[in-house]
Amino acid sequence: MDERAGGTAPTYHVPVMLPEVLSALAVDPDGDYADGTLGGGGHAAAILDLVRGAGHLYAFDADPGAIANATARFAGDLGARIIVRQAYFTEACEMLAAEGIRLAGVLLDLGVSSRQLDSDQIGLSYRQEMPLDMRFDATARPRSAADIVNDDSPEKIATLLRQYGEEPAAWKIAQAIARGRSGRRIATTTDLREVIESMIPGHFLIKTLSRVFQALRIAVNDELGELERGLAGFIPLLRSGGRFAVLTYHSLEDRIVKDTFRDEERSCICPPDFPLCRCDKVQRLKVLGRKPLLPTAEEIERNPRARSAKLRVAERVEGMVKHNL
Ligand SMILES: C[S@@+](CC[C@H](N)C(=O)[O-])C[C@H]1O[C@@H](n2cnc3c(N)ncnc32)[C@H](O)[C@@H]1O
Repeated sequence: MDERAGGTAPTYHVPVMLPEVLSALAVDPDGDYADGTLGGGGHAAAILDLVRGAGHLYAFDADPGAIANATARFAGDLGARIIVRQAYFTEACEMLAAEGIRLAGVLLDLGVSSRQLDSDQIGLSYRQEMPLDMRFDATARPRSAADIVNDDSPEKIATLLRQYGEEPAAWKIAQAIARGRSGRRIATTTDLREVIESMIPGHFLIKTLSRVFQALRIAVNDELGELERGLAGFIPLLRSGGRFAVLTYHSLEDRIVKDTFRDEERSCICPPDFPLCRCDKVQRLKVLGRKPLLPTAEEIERNPRARSAKLRVAERVEGMVKHNL
C-alpha cells in the first residue's frame, strides 16, 4: 500500500475501519468523491489511490491545521486529482453544488483526529493546559468554550452538558462552574479541570472530564447541527448508485445518521389510515445493512481510538416522483 494511504506510519491519525470504508464506497476509478473530514488524510489517500481514472477527490476540513498537512501530503496531486479546501460541511456542500459536481461517493469520519487531541492547540483535551477555545476554525464560529462556561447561565450550561455529554451530574457541574467563575475567568483547560476536580470523586473524574469536554466541543463547533446539514447537503449531490459512508463515535451522532438514512429510505409519510398516498415524499437512499458495521477486535487492539466507531452506509436511489396531488 502507498505510504500516503496510511499503511505504514501515519502519526497524524490512524484511519478507522479503512478496508470497510473502501468496500462501502465501492470506489469507481472515474468517479468524483468527497471526503468531508480530511483530518490527516489517511482515508483520503486510500480513496485517491483507487480514483485512478477521470475521477477526483474533493477533500474538506474545518481545521486549518488539517488543510496545511494535506497540502504538504498531497503536493504532487493537489489541484489535479485532489482538491483540498478548508470548509465546514455546509460550505463544502455549497461549493460542490455551485460547481455542479455529481458525486460517486461521500465519506464523513466524524469527531476529531488524534493530532487534534494529542498536539492540542485549541484546548480539546483536559490533559494539557491550553486556552479553553475548542473551535476547529475560530474565524467561522463566534463563541469559544471559555465564552460558554463564563457567560452562559448555569441552566444553559447544564442543558448543554446533559444534551451533548449525556452527563448525569450536569446540574451539579454547572453550579460548580458558576461558583468557580465568580471573581475570575475560567480561561484554560486546567481552570475547568480544577473546577470539576473539586466536586467529582476521583474514580469518576476521567469519565466526567471526557463527557464535559466532549459536550463543550460539540456545542462550540455546532457538530450535531453541522452533521444534520451535511447529510441533507451531500445526499442530493450523490449520483444514482453513489455511496454515502459515515463513521460515528458516539450515540448522538449515530442516532442522527441512522434516523436520516431511515427517513430518506421512505417513499411515503402519509398517516397509516390514508387509503392513497397524498404526500410528495420521494425515496432518495437505500440503506445497505440493517446494522452498522463495527471495527474488529484486532483493529481495536491495534488502535483503541477505533473502539466506539460505527459505520453506516447508504446508496443513492432515484425514487419515483409522484403525481398524485
Ligand atoms: C476523525 S478526523 C478524520 C480523520 C481522517 N478520516 C483521516 O483518515 O485522517 C475528523 C476530522 O473532521 C473534521 N471535522 C469535524 N467536523 C467537521 C465539520 N462539521 N466540517 C468540517 N470538518 C469537520 C475535524 O477537524 C477532523 O480533522
